[in-house]
Amino acid sequence: MSKSTSPRVAIHVDGERVDVPPGASLAAVLLDLRLAGRGVNPSWAPICAMASCFGCLVRVDTHEQVRACTERCREGMRVDTHARPPS
Ligand code: FES
Repeated sequence: MSKSTSPRVAIHVDGERVDVPPGASLAAVLLDLRLAGRGVNPSWAPICAMASCFGCLVRVDTHEQVRACTERCREGMRVDTHARPPS
């Protein structure tokens, strides 16, 4: 099997390191991980992919309530899909 030589950045999703293409849609990456059963919050539910349903909210680094469908993957970002909005 050949090894991919395409550029990758490392992000951390719920504590797991994942290597993804730079600039990839965060929502698409999270959806792939969820479908693969890799720890993404099962109640995380992106619906619209156009920043209007708020089903894709996550914490990114220190930023709460980030819409994953508007976020691009960048080196070192830390994503928490289990974070709940502050009450
Ligand atoms: S998927 Fe609807 S706001 Fe992100």
